[in-house]
Amino acid sequence: MTDRLLSIDTADGVRTLRINRPDKLNALNAATLDALDGAFADAAGDDTVRVVVLTGAGPKAFVAGADIAEMNALTPVQGRDFSLRGTRMMRRIERMPKPVIAMVNGFALGGGLELAMSCHLRIAADTAKVGQPEINLGLIPGFGGSQRLLRLCGRAATLELCLTGAPVSAERALQLGIINRIVPAAELEAETMKLATQLAAAAPLALRGMLDCVNVGGECGIEEGLEYEAAQFGLAFSTNDMREGTSAFLEKRKPAFTGT
Ligand code: COA
Repeated sequence: MTDRLLSIDTADGVRTLRINRPDKLNALNAATLDALDGAFADAAGDDTVRVVVLTGAGPKAFVAGADIAEMNALTPVQGRDFSLRGTRMMRRIERMPKPVIAMVNGFALGGGLELAMSCHLRIAADTAKVGQPEINLGLIPGFGGSQRLLRLCGRAATLELCLTGAPVSAERALQLGIINRIVPAAELEAETMKLATQLAAAAPLALRGMLDCVNVGGECGIEEGLEYEAAQFGLAFSTNDMREGTSAFLEKRKPAFTGT
């Protein structure tokens, strides 16, 4: 399915969402933020979707940022609302009950890097460039960039990227821990789909428990985090997939997980 702003495909449990404004390097205007919010809500509630891949249309950009033309005319109140709109959508992605992979096919700048950072995994083309260039516009990141970058790669790199506004190469982003993997641009789609297909075959409730552990553990102390993990571990024993996974190992066969 394709609407004006987003193309949506599903195959073998993998839903691919492709932001579709290549003439504007997939810049995030309010309508695109809303389209993404709706598409992720839909993917979350659809049991046939096991994994989501998010990318941008065209050869140049994942997303080159929030839409500067749209922001140019905003009042302070509208600016705050625009920020909250993006933040809510990206929080939804971060808290998705199934894995979300950002396939970073080019520039991921400003809101584009913020969007990629709200995904659970990031695979980038070797040609990709990432950064938080808002400072060059007299702005700061507004969709959680200062907070997620800080949590992903610490103060030094966060301040370097946000204070200078200079984009970094995929190689440097990998070094800093911002992305998980780099692949040659020509292999990006195939490599991402390989990973997505692997995750789509995994036990969905265990994936969900794992995502919950990291979401909760990232925000609480070690004692609470360990308690939470133990509770999630116990909960896994209530699933058919846990019986199937352990039985398949003992019977030396491949497990067939059902998400129950
Ligand atoms: N918002 C709105 N439009 C954007 C945009 C953004 N964030 N990024 C790119 N575009 C538009 C350009 O205005 C241009 O539109 P036009 O053809 O109608 O003039 C089109 O996308 C192509 O971009 P262009 O700048 O011509 O491509 P380039 O290859 O020369 O440069 C970038 C690529 C990414 C370096 C450059 O587009 C850029 O710096 N973009 C803004 C990045 C940014 O500051 N993001 C943070 C926003 S908070």
